[in-house]
Parts: sequence; structure tokens; C-alpha cells
Amino acid sequence: MKLISLFLTIVLLDSASSLNILGIFPYQGKSHFFVHRVYLRELAKRGHNLTVISHFPEKEPPKNYHDISLAGSIKILEDDLVVHRSYISVLQVGIFLTTTGKENCEVMLANNEVQNMIKQKPKFDIVVVEQFNSDCALGIAYKLNAPVVGVTSHILMPWHYSRLGIPYNPSYVSFHFLEGGTKPTLVQRLERVVFDLYFRMIYYFVTQRSDQNTLARYFNDIPPLEDLAREIKFLLLYHNFVLTGSRLFPANVIEVGGYHVQKAKPLTGDLKKFIEEAENGIIYISFGSVIRSSSLPSDKLEAVLGAMRELPQRFVWKWENKTMHVDKNKLYTFDWLPQVDILGHPKTLAFFSHAGMGGTTEAIHFGVPMVAMPVIGDQPANAAAIEESGLGVQLQIRDLTNQNLVTAFKKVMDPKFRENVKLLSKAWHDRPLPPLDAAIYWTEFAARYSNFTFRTAAADVPLYQYINLDIALVYIALLLLILAGFKALVSICCLGKSKEISRSKKIKHK
Ligand SMILES: *[C@@H]1O[C@H](CO)[C@@H](O)[C@H](O)[C@H]1NC(C)=O
Ligand SMILES: *[C@@H]1O[C@H](CO)[C@@H](O)[C@H](O)[C@H]1NC(C)=O
Ligand SMILES: *[C@@H]1O[C@H](CO)[C@@H](O)[C@H](O)[C@H]1NC(C)=O
Repeated sequence: MKLISLFLTIVLLDSASSLNILGIFPYQGKSHFFVHRVYLRELAKRGHNLTVISHFPEKEPPKNYHDISLAGSIKILEDDLVVHRSYISVLQVGIFLTTTGKENCEVMLANNEVQNMIKQKPKFDIVVVEQFNSDCALGIAYKLNAPVVGVTSHILMPWHYSRLGIPYNPSYVSFHFLEGGTKPTLVQRLERVVFDLYFRMIYYFVTQRSDQNTLARYFNDIPPLEDLAREIKFLLLYHNFVLTGSRLFPANVIEVGGYHVQKAKPLTGDLKKFIEEAENGIIYISFGSVIRSSSLPSDKLEAVLGAMRELPQRFVWKWENKTMHVDKNKLYTFDWLPQVDILGHPKTLAFFSHAGMGGTTEAIHFGVPMVAMPVIGDQPANAAAIEESGLGVQLQIRDLTNQNLVTAFKKVMDPKFRENVKLLSKAWHDRPLPPLDAAIYWTEFAARYSNFTFRTAAADVPLYQYINLDIALVYIALLLLILAGFKALVSICCLGKSKEISRSKKIKHK
């Protein structure tokens, strides 16, 4: 009996270890791929054969890991954005998404190696596709006749809800690009409706249409991309309810948030000395790899420097400019910092951040409270989640003053607050399956049962049925009919009566 089960285990392991997997990552954002890379390398490490289309080829690829490199074809996004947020900048994000989505598709399909690969029609058990600014990759998966698993390094984009049948309701679902979290004000709900429509329309009518045309230049039989999107087997979503709140997801949407966070390594050199000699601990500041900290307007910079002077902590800041004229005993700056190692250090008391999903999951991983100042993209929704979960507090750019920042730092460094964050971090780690294992498990599951699609029926019903418009119309019509019938009845019988009455009155007169 034992032998049989051992044999079965080996057979199962063996069949699971032989998957041929294609990863398609045409978007050039470093912070996105930084997350996916961990998952892709782990798939290879577990014996799967990986082919990865991306702008980030491995310098030393693991065994079974083959790159199809798009590197050099588009400028990589780094230290590009300024610290600024307005309606205009949110609208510009829509334009950014559609231009990069279109460009990513064109660059990928024009690549010779990609074309050759598609021509050879290798058999892939699974195609892993980033779900972000384009569905172009779904066309390739279709040509290869392979099932698709979607992956994200962030929360859902507005157009992801309907394809997966996930309810979107502005009154309680956080909106990617705007403030308000799960408890928006009326004004915020009104904003959401307009921006949701804007982002979805631009996606369907500009991005998707353009990708469909680009694909049509190479292949003549690609079905509508939105139909292919509904065929996605599973979505591995960079969420976890401990941080992002309890949400209504169908069974094929799997929360795998946090798997990219590596073990913290011991610090070295000047940075180690600076942090370990900080008597009152340190506060870490970083606005990520895409936003330039040094683009802070001078009054906002002055607010941060003022807060530094007031607090006894030392500060470590990811700052791209060479020099900042602040006491070397107070502030350590560098244009690149080992963020995970800093957050993992016991002297780190708080993290002042732009609330990118990468850094936010790293902060909850190590139980470091946050002051979140969202700038762009999903950051407003993340910042709301940080506050609602108890991981930290939000501070909008417009409210960034010396006093507000000091108050925010004091609040999150309060022992009670920190204790709660430590507990939250414990809950974050307390899962039946660690997130990387979960991501791999469901990828392999999708390959094992690729003949089934587990999407909810909600993704299939037409909109008018989804919102029960037809039911409402039939009942309203019926109600009107009954009312009309009743009115007719009343008027007939009452008219009859009133005639009788008037006749009897006439008789009496006589
Ligand atoms: C693994 O992938 C590479 C590159 O796509 C391919 O050449 C090779 O045949 C694959 N190996 C197996 C065993 O499928
Ligand atoms: C330093 O900051 C100034 C103003 O914020 C900017 O104009 C300059 O390009 C920056 N220098 C570097 C090396 O980033
Ligand atoms: C899946 O469906 C295909 C086509 O209908 C069939 O040939 C194949 O055997 C099925 N796979 C499994 C594992 O049953």
C-alpha cells in the first residue's frame, strides 16, 4: 500500500514537474516584473520548463528558464514620475495605459524571436499572462491553443471586474485610481462613476481595439480579445484580505499577495552603522522606483525636513540627488537602498511611502507601520487599504505639512499602534498555503484541468440580465397593466353607479 502511494506520488510529481510554460510580460515596468520574476523563477526551480517573453532577461537564468528578450526596444520606466496628483494626472494615467498597452503589443509582435516561436507552434501546457494594460498576449495564447493563467502585481484594473464576473459597486469597492477606499463620500462615489467609465471606455475602444488591429496584421483569426479574456482559467491576484479587505471574488480568483518578499539580509557598510547607531530608531522614506523623490515641490520638501528636525529618530531616504544639506547624523540618502533589508531591521520604526503594492506588502510582511502618501495608479486605493487595515495612516500630498507629518509619524510609532501592526503582520503570514506555493499550486491545477473553466456565471450573463433590467421591466409593465385594468374597472362600475344615482335623483325631483 505504501509502495503504491509512493509510486503515485512520484508519478504525480513527475507529471506536475514536466509542464511547459510560456510567460508573456510585454509591459516594461520594473516594479511589476520584479514581482512576477519571483514566481517565474520558482516555477523553473520546481522543474517546469519556462519560456519568458519580457524586457528583463535573466543574467544567470536558472535551469529550464529560457528568455525571449524584448530588452532595448522600449525605455524602461524608472525615476520618471513627479510627486503630484490631480484630476489631470489621473486622466493622464488613462492615456499612459493605452499608449504603453498599444506600444507593448506592437513591439512584442514585431520581435523575430516571438514570431518564430509562434510559427513553430510549440505545445504549452499553460500560458501565464500579465493582466495590466493590454490583452495582446491573449492573442498569442490563442494561436498556441493553450490555457491561460492571469497574474497581477497590483489590485484589479477597472476592466477586470466584468471579465471575471467580480461585482464592482462604487459604494463599497475601493476604486483603483481614487481616494475613499471602501467608505467613499457621495462626492467620491460620483467621481468614481465618471472615472470608471473613462478608464473602461478608453480600454475597450482604444487599447483593445488597437491591440486587435495589431494582432490582425499578423494573424487573421483572433477572436475578440474580451471574449478571450473571459476564458482565462485563473487570476492570481496580488491581494490578501488582511491588507486589502474582505472582497467578493469567484473561486477562480486567487489571492496570492506578498509572495515576492525575500528574507531580509543583514545590512552592511555605512548604512548598517547609521541604522544601528540610531538611538531612537529610524524612519525609512521611499517613493519607489518610478517616482522621483527629488521632484517634491520645495514647500513639501521643507515640510519633510521640518518633521525630521522635530523628531528624535534618524531618517533613511531613497533620494536620487547626490547631496542634501542635512546633518549626516540625521539623514542618510542614497539613490538605491536595500528596502527589504531596511524594513526587516528591528530599528526601523516607520515607513513613509507612496503606497505602491510592492513596498506595502513588504511593510506588512515585516510589521512596519506606514505613513502612506499616494501619488498615482493604484496608490490611492492601497493607501486607503493601509489605513483601513490598521497598517498605517494616509496623508494626501495636499495635506503634507510639517505638522501633519509629525502627527502621522507619532501616531504610527505609538507602542499600541505598533503592537497592532505586529499582530496584523502575524495574520498576514498565517495562511494555509504560503502565497508563492498557492500561486504555483493553482497554476499547476489550471494545467491539470485545462478542459474546465471555472469562471462564475456572472461573467457570462448580458449586462441587462446582470442588473435585472428585464425582470424589472416585465414587472413594471405588469404593474402598469394591473393598475390600468383596475382603473378601467373602477371607472366602468363607478360610472355605472353615478349614472344610476343621478337617474334616481332625477326621479326624486319629479
Ligand atoms: C523547454 O523550452 C524550450 C524553449 O522554449 C524548448 O526549446 C524546449 O524544447 C522545451 N523543453 C521541453 C522538454 O519541452
Ligand atoms: C537634483 O534636483 C534638482 C531639482 O530638484 C534637479 O533639477 C536635478 O536634475 C537633480 N539632479 C540629479 C542628479 O538628479
Ligand atoms: C480534454 O479535451 C480534449 C478535447 O475534447 C480531449 O481530447 C482530452 O482528452 C481532454 N483531456 C482530458 C484530460 O480529459
